[in-house]
Amino acid sequence: MAPQTWKDLTVAVTGPTGTLGFGLMPLLQADDRVAHVTGVARRPFDPAACHWTKTEYRRGDVRDPEVLRDAFRDADVVVHLAFQVTGAASGETIKSVNIDGTLNAFDAAMAAGVRRFVYASSVAAYGFHRDNPVGMTEDWPVRPANRLFYAREKARLEHLLRARASGPGSPAVYVLRPSIVLGPHAVGAKSLPRGPLGTLARLPARWAGRIRFPVPAPEVPVQLVHEEDVGQALLLCVAAAGPPGAYNIAADGLVTVATVARELGMVPLRVPPRLTQGTARAVSALPFLPPVAQWVEAASHPAIMDTTRAKRELGWVPRFTALETLRETLHAYRDTQAAASEAGNAQPAGAAGTVRADLARS
Ligand SMILES: NC(=O)c1ccc[n+]([C@@H]2O[C@H](COP(=O)([O-])OP(=O)(O)OC[C@H]3O[C@@H](n4cnc5c(N)ncnc54)[C@H](OP(=O)(O)O)[C@@H]3O)[C@@H](O)[C@H]2O)c1
Repeated sequence: MAPQTWKDLTVAVTGPTGTLGFGLMPLLQADDRVAHVTGVARRPFDPAACHWTKTEYRRGDVRDPEVLRDAFRDADVVVHLAFQVTGAASGETIKSVNIDGTLNAFDAAMAAGVRRFVYASSVAAYGFHRDNPVGMTEDWPVRPANRLFYAREKARLEHLLRARASGPGSPAVYVLRPSIVLGPHAVGAKSLPRGPLGTLARLPARWAGRIRFPVPAPEVPVQLVHEEDVGQALLLCVAAAGPPGAYNIAADGLVTVATVARELGMVPLRVPPRLTQGTARAVSALPFLPPVAQWVEAASHPAIMDTTRAKRELGWVPRFTALETLRETLHAYRDTQAAASEAGNAQPAGAAGTVRADLARS
């Protein structure tokens, strides 16, 4: 497809106040091709407070098709980011937001006659299968994970969207598959689980750099990507910089849990990858695991993607390596903590500031 120039675009974004939203929205604001943005989320936010002057806020839930039909009415492009990621809700609620909400968004986009539907899938759509190669390209099949709700729903949605997009009148569908996304808004709009699991999740941030204590740290490789770089990839899809289809999105380079431990000022204790992966497989097979605990399956097999296609066909050039992404995230977190303690624990401005302050206080 020949590159085209788009002007005066109206873009509707579901989930603008999450990690990926904070990567994309400033880029839409800065891009002269974009004239107007509509942002749909459940919790109110003030676009002006984030300097998103082109953005109009629509309060609503993606489970409500009417809200979406209304929000997408004049849109040229829909970017669908609203999702339940952490699993801190019931399985039914998560499924209705993730599956029904995504299909509602696609159907409303199609009814509005938008040209492009951009959807954030995930590396998790590949599942954590033992035969997944290191360096999966987009041709590798998307297969539901054994247990993790998030990965199962991501795989299912890719199949459902592909089927819907093959019908007449469909918008061009762009599917991004990012690895773990970090940056100053890494927590985004996510609810962190309560109870022991939540405490466990908060511990590394809470104690980072205070005491050099040893932690078990498997040398399992992980891909990361910076929120700004994912924002760039989303913007390239908004502007149809390349053909529709699926694109793997990850920073160059890998980190391991041991790298993360070192950067947090802890002392990593080597754990053989096989032990970690075997344990993760065994735990994830336990019956009655709540959705949030199903995330353990993600450690059962490394999910490493090849990102050549996004670079070649979209012209995507990530600014941050995996290690730089991790460092930037920790930097931002420490800055937020320092600002909060200087201001007597007052919350930093902005929607993401609020959630980051929640984390800092915990
Ligand atoms: N973060 C990552 O590491 C990562 C990696 C790969 C792929 N992804 C994908 O990228 C997308 C965005 O993730 P994220 O990390 O930005 O998520 P996030 O931080 O949890 O933000 C989710 C956004 O969606 C909104 N939202 C949630 N439920 C909604 C509902 N029922 N109706 C309307 N809006 C709703 C949230 O605002 P309200 O809560 O106020 O409604 C927020 O704006 C997801 O599809 C995720 O699977 C994320």
